Amino acid sequence: MIPSSLVQLAYLASAALFILGLKRLQSPATARRGNLMSGVGMLLAILVTLLDRAILGYGTIAAGLLVGTVLGLWMARAVKMTAIPQMVALLNGFGGGASLLVGGAEFLRAELVGEVVPLANAVTIQLAVLIGAVTFTGSGVAFAKLQELIPGRPIAFAGQRIVSALILTAILVLSVYQFATPEPVLWPFYSVVGLSLLLGILLVIPIGGADMPVVVALLNSYSGLAAAMTGFVINNHVLIVSGALVGSSGLILTRIMCRAMNRSLVNVLFGAFGAVGPSANGKRSSEGLTARQIAVEDAAMQLAYARLVVVVPGYGLAVAQAQHQVRELAELIEKKGGEVRYAIHPVAGRMPGHMNVLLAEANVPYDKLYDMDQINGEFQRADVALVIGANDVVNPAARTDAGSPIYGMPILNVDQAKNVIVMKRSMAAGFAGIENELFYAPNTSMLFGDAKASLSSLVSEVKLL
Ligand code: TAP
Repeated sequence: MIPSSLVQLAYLASAALFILGLKRLQSPATARRGNLMSGVGMLLAILVTLLDRAILGYGTIAAGLLVGTVLGLWMARAVKMTAIPQMVALLNGFGGGASLLVGGAEFLRAELVGEVVPLANAVTIQLAVLIGAVTFTGSGVAFAKLQELIPGRPIAFAGQRIVSALILTAILVLSVYQFATPEPVLWPFYSVVGLSLLLGILLVIPIGGADMPVVVALLNSYSGLAAAMTGFVINNHVLIVSGALVGSSGLILTRIMCRAMNRSLVNVLFGAFGAVGPSANGKRSSEGLTARQIAVEDAAMQLAYARLVVVVPGYGLAVAQAQHQVRELAELIEKKGGEVRYAIHPVAGRMPGHMNVLLAEANVPYDKLYDMDQINGEFQRADVALVIGANDVVNPAARTDAGSPIYGMPILNVDQAKNVIVMKRSMAAGFAGIENELFYAPNTSMLFGDAKASLSSLVSEVKLL
């Protein structure tokens, strides 16, 4: 055992490292250091807790550490970049599950020894159990939808919201009853656990797969809240601080994502986006229009002699893993005297920062990455806007078609460039499942094919010029 004052000091240092680490995640240039700092903070917190608490035996802890390390290493290596959202959902769920177990264990311990739990503790235990259980099953459903183990479309039945409200009321009544009865009864507690698990499922199944990344960010915030509650339950300050940090940053992220899609959180949670196909009115906006195709040689010519090329990466770039080829092409254009900038939409790809991480992996310099607000004024000046596997984030319908499901979503104004080259495999729709009039615009040419293969061909062609 180490003195309590030293433990609290170490916890304070950990909390400071978490906050400084988070701050450094603001920019790709400092993000790695930030991650490392937070990691050191967590290591410190774990070491101190292991030395401070009355540990009954290190055997189970070592076994847990071993299993966690092996699983973590495997996940880090095996899980594809495009599958990160469902991995985050799964890990959030584990966080919620851990809070449920700790809160539950603390409750059962108090019941076993016949301890009278003070009201404040009773409330935090119930909150840790409720939020932890909702996060656990809610994240499980989000994972299953993203992994396509269950259908991604919203699954709803009549009166679903009323059923959820009734379940929440029952949980509240049972919680009050649990702590109001003097006899040690366990059935209300187990009922609260069961109903909370059910509530998590009911809250997430009516939300469409297209909105899952926002739900995952929200559940991330819940898992932080559950951890903070657990911190109160076991009186651990570093858990309270780290839980509050996760809770608030998850909420901020949820807000950023909603704003970037021009949707309210209420609309995401209860709007059942994607339940009805956008083409439900039976009309196709592209009827009678034809898209112009471009050959690799012609596209290479345009790029090689352009003064300003704005690259717009999207989800398709991540699927094709073409980040290295795009950097190579950009370097060739620059060698020929052109300037290359990358336009990053806040929700391009499938998770926050998806494009930044991808391009950083290929050593694209950070100062060439421009946010939507910084670059939108530059498109008119661009000779070529090169759209690689992006679709919804460049769809002008968001600006012009009040009937479109993405109307009002801020987009990258690529249609204002002198020439637009769109690289994708077909005319298929993107994430939102809607048509894109950009593909039929007079200044747009389509370069069909897998992004990696097309970029490799472009690189070879530009080299010849
Ligand atoms: P999308 O609109 O999903 O379009 C991606 C395009 O990439 C598809 O149209 C697809 O067309 C193409 N593609 C797929 N694989 C390809 C490959 N191997 N080579 C070339 N092209 C390929 O992507 P986006 O423009 O990045 O927009 C992101 C969407 O995700 C938005 O609707 C956004 O709201 C949503 N979303 C994002 C987030 C975050 S935080 N990033 C969160 C929630 C929702 P083909 O099949 O024809 O190739």
